[in-house]
Amino acid sequence: MDILIKNCRLLGSEKLFDVGIEDGRIKEIKEKANGRMNDKAREEIDAGGRLLTSSFFNMHFHLDTVFTAGQPRYNASGTLLEGIEIWEERKKSLTEKDVIERCEKAVEIFTLYGTTFIRTHADTTEKELTSLKALLKAKKLFGDLCDIQITAFPQDGILTQKENAELLEKAAELGADCIGMIPHNEYTREDGIDSIRIAFDIAQRHNKDVDGHVDETDDPDSKFLEVVAAETIKRSYQKRVIAGHTTAMGSYDNAYAFKLFGTLKKAEITIVSNPLVNANLQGRFDSYPKRRGLTRMKELLNSGINVCLGHDDMLDPWYPLGTGDMLQVLFMALHLAHFTSREELLNALDLITTNGAKALRLNDYGIAPGKKANLVLLNAKNEIDALRILGPPLLVIKEGRIVASTIDGPKIYRKGKPKEVELFTS
Ligand code: FE2
Repeated sequence: MDILIKNCRLLGSEKLFDVGIEDGRIKEIKEKANGRMNDKAREEIDAGGRLLTSSFFNMHFHLDTVFTAGQPRYNASGTLLEGIEIWEERKKSLTEKDVIERCEKAVEIFTLYGTTFIRTHADTTEKELTSLKALLKAKKLFGDLCDIQITAFPQDGILTQKENAELLEKAAELGADCIGMIPHNEYTREDGIDSIRIAFDIAQRHNKDVDGHVDETDDPDSKFLEVVAAETIKRSYQKRVIAGHTTAMGSYDNAYAFKLFGTLKKAEITIVSNPLVNANLQGRFDSYPKRRGLTRMKELLNSGINVCLGHDDMLDPWYPLGTGDMLQVLFMALHLAHFTSREELLNALDLITTNGAKALRLNDYGIAPGKKANLVLLNAKNEIDALRILGPPLLVIKEGRIVASTIDGPKIYRKGKPKEVELFTS
């Protein structure tokens, strides 16, 4: 056996277990009361009753913009649109080296905090497709720490410049995993609808999933999600579509939202909420009362629609903060969505674990013999403490290898060698 984690707790149980890992997979799980696991392991870790969970999914992040806050200026209004303007200036000086270096630091931090999967967006409205080319390299370079999937993301819109649709198609040819869109940033409602159809056309031509930025606004008339859901159904693209943000839903009329939920369910769409960033960006045009600017996380889940979470941004034109800890994202989500009943808290970790796996149609995921060993040993002994104390975890395991540990200072492990992770920015 490669690794034996002794005396750990598993979600939903008060009992203690030993978990054995071999050849990248969970080999055996044995309840402590039934005696010790007999196999010797190369590495034994005593969890001391701490909680062992599946590792985390960051289902929406921008690895190309990370750590660019203040370049060339800070976002004074705190709005999405000023962020887009600032990034338009910054991206003129993008190089692959610049993107890869910032990406490496971000991936190391996410790994340290227990994330082993990142769905990133690569801005394809920069003519040279520098972000995409750099992130395709980063995906290989840092794949030992995090599995990275790339969405080709037309940040400035698909129909706002004549070459943008072509660039999106080129991104699919170059190897992007998913096709994105941003219909609320097109000039008109009609262009928004056309842009959705163009994104689906490209996705279908290249057999890619769809992953859109959809209705990231407080405007209650921004109703592109219904178009995304309708296209999904008409094209039989069920289970292959993610809609990120959908914050306008927080401002919809209840009767309209109720009808929309039915369509979303039929389309089997996953909604990804980004509570850190949308708590910052939304409500900026309100005086008081001020809207929370979040999608209807609780009601979506109660209607049987899959919901997961993304960190979205970190120290960039849209978000001047960020730790890289998905538990912190979850913490914010629980507060803003009033997801705080005892039952909701006990199941809350699903939002950054199981629900991500469901969105990605992963079937060898979870804590059971034979499943891939993607695990975190949290610095908590129960679910509530995990949500209070947050990260980083004591240990992060990706496919049976220890990739991060804080037992002896914050370190990640690459090719078995420890490397200190720099958490400070200056
Ligand atoms: Fe985003």
